[in-house]
Amino acid sequence: MSAAISDVTDAAPDADTVRGVDAQSAPDQVRTEAVPVQSLITNRPIKFPIYDTGGLLLLAEGSLITTKFKELLRARGVAEVLLHEEDVQSVTLAGHAISSKSPHPGFDTELTAKLDQIIESGNLFVANSGEALVNQMISRGCRGYDREERDRVVDVHRDASAALDECIQDALRGKSVDCKQLMDTTGQYLTAMMSDADCVLSVVMEVGDDTILADHCLQMSMLGMAIGIEMGLDDENSRTLGLCGLLHDWGMVRVPESIRNATHILSDGDFVAIKKHPIHALEMLEKITGIPSTVPLAAYQVHERPNGTGYPRARRQHETHVFARILGVADAYLALTTARPYRHALMPYAAMECLITQASQNCFDPKIVKSLIQIMALFPIGSYVVLNDGSVARVLRRSGKEYGRPIVQLLKRQDGSELAEDDESAIVNLAETTSLHVVQALPTPGATQIALSPEIVKINRDPIVTV
Ligand SMILES: [Fe+2]
Repeated sequence: MSAAISDVTDAAPDADTVRGVDAQSAPDQVRTEAVPVQSLITNRPIKFPIYDTGGLLLLAEGSLITTKFKELLRARGVAEVLLHEEDVQSVTLAGHAISSKSPHPGFDTELTAKLDQIIESGNLFVANSGEALVNQMISRGCRGYDREERDRVVDVHRDASAALDECIQDALRGKSVDCKQLMDTTGQYLTAMMSDADCVLSVVMEVGDDTILADHCLQMSMLGMAIGIEMGLDDENSRTLGLCGLLHDWGMVRVPESIRNATHILSDGDFVAIKKHPIHALEMLEKITGIPSTVPLAAYQVHERPNGTGYPRARRQHETHVFARILGVADAYLALTTARPYRHALMPYAAMECLITQASQNCFDPKIVKSLIQIMALFPIGSYVVLNDGSVARVLRRSGKEYGRPIVQLLKRQDGSELAEDDESAIVNLAETTSLHVVQALPTPGATQIALSPEIVKINRDPIVTV
């Protein structure tokens, strides 16, 4: 057994050891793959060292993968290791996952080749040039939404959806599209969000229809920007992320309508057509002048997943741009809370539960899922809940970092009597009271929403749940 294995066997190495390993033999990130421990084939030798996902050496080159080594990793809670791509082919069952990166017919174009080159260069960093916006957002505390402002955001949203739909149709017909108009749209929402993010999110979720492409793009843009701001992005990066959300899915209009609006669970053939939509999007984005280079990259990668189960290239977390990862989580939340012809929508709380479970399985970046919960709350803004005193309330706002105890508006008392909508005294911050807490999430009135079940958690084709 090598010295590196005994690092795993005996005790966690001290900080100096870790630094020493990192400095002398840091993994070549571009040529490594994160693979599940259970897929390592025992009694096979490795040509290159194995690291944990934090870059700590676990097994030296030339060593044999033993059952004991795998057991020790599992005992330490190490679910994935970084393996050199050459070793992936010879010592894992994930060989087919690598081959899924090879071009699928119709997936390989000059545009994708350029983007693949950027991705493989490892140059996917995002740096702020200004102050993080999260510090400048106005917190409204226990205050209802300003009715006039909310109506204004609703109007802006309806106009923006109609204008965006026109842009998508123009792009489909090969007409030029004004990038400035799209940037203005995200800028307008960003300004409103800085003043009252909860209000904007509640409008976009309530008024938007995720099954309409323009609405979906706007929802993605808002949710993406809100998550990005929570994660510390500055103004410029937040706007770019908003633009990525607005443009990422345009390629869907080139997918045959019979597949796009299918009333059945998609067949393998249908799914290949769906998988092409990021490539179609790239071709459409080519015709828009002045878009930041990150936009096509994010559009290309939105459906990649940290564990390599996504498409079109089955990239892993470290090979996927953070904007694409953020939008991937937003997309999953929207998909889960939207009904499909062949299944019901999940209750917003159930969708959060589902994402938490999937993040623990490395299907989504846990940091991003956490940020989503922080901006929407565990019982998301706009959702309905029952409190421990029997009253019914609607979640109005987040409450700082207390994502399990949001600010709610009481709607009905335990005795069934109703409270006036404009009654500010009916707004309660659950984080500031010990006597009230949520005991149950309720479906949205008038909508058929279901709770989480093990079958739904089972990942099946990009968070489309098949029930
Ligand atoms: Fe998409």
